[in-house]
Amino acid sequence: MKILAIAGSPRRGGNTDTLLEQASAGARSMGAEVEQVILNRLKIAPCMACNRCFETGRCAVNDDYQPLYDKTLGADGLILASPIFFMNVSGWTKAFIDRFQCLWALRYVLKQPIPLPPGGKKRRAIFLSTAGSPKTKFDCTLYTVRAFLSTIDAQLVGMQCINAVDEKGAIAAYPEVLQEAYALGVRLASDQEPDTVKEGESA
Ligand SMILES: Cc1cc2nc3c(=O)[nH]c(=O)nc-3n(C[C@H](O)[C@H](O)[C@H](O)COP(=O)(O)O)c2cc1C
Repeated sequence: MKILAIAGSPRRGGNTDTLLEQASAGARSMGAEVEQVILNRLKIAPCMACNRCFETGRCAVNDDYQPLYDKTLGADGLILASPIFFMNVSGWTKAFIDRFQCLWALRYVLKQPIPLPPGGKKRRAIFLSTAGSPKTKFDCTLYTVRAFLSTIDAQLVGMQCINAVDEKGAIAAYPEVLQEAYALGVRLASDQEPDTVKEGESA
């Protein structure tokens, strides 16, 4: 099973990176092949709304999104990790998500199916997120993430939304949260059906 681990934070070794590492380790423990991409090391322009994808189903803007599109569709599972920036995913993550407008066009304008992953089973995904404020709610973010996953035809099989972690690496003080991230990686790489997926508790 191929898994793409997408790091949406510009902060290396930060809180979402830590969760991403744990989930990746969990997936690898099940024999999955995990490839990590770091969005802020790539050049991914925001969607230009040029609508050229309405004719082809593929984004026409030639930047680092193109190989990432292939990697995304070529993965059986995705781990999407993003910090909360102004109540939603980071700008790096949002630019990545918006470029999948081409798959929206493929399905709803061109009336074609979203290709299945190479394994032939429905694509699976987990979402990992942290926020600094103890008061932060993740509902706004989750609307975005669910819309993205629906567009790429992926099933959300688990998530972690952890607030009250702000400093770089603060998440390491919560070993139970790290264990949960590892277990989510295991679940992603297995055929286990998800429990009811709900917003996580705060750390
Ligand atoms: C530009 C920016 C915007 C942020 N906006 C929020 C916010 O709206 N709510 C919140 O609780 N934390 C916010 N934070 C704090 C981060 O979500 C928090 O520090 C998170 O744990 C960082 O994860 P990382 O270490 O993976 O980058 C913001 C941080 C930055 C840099």
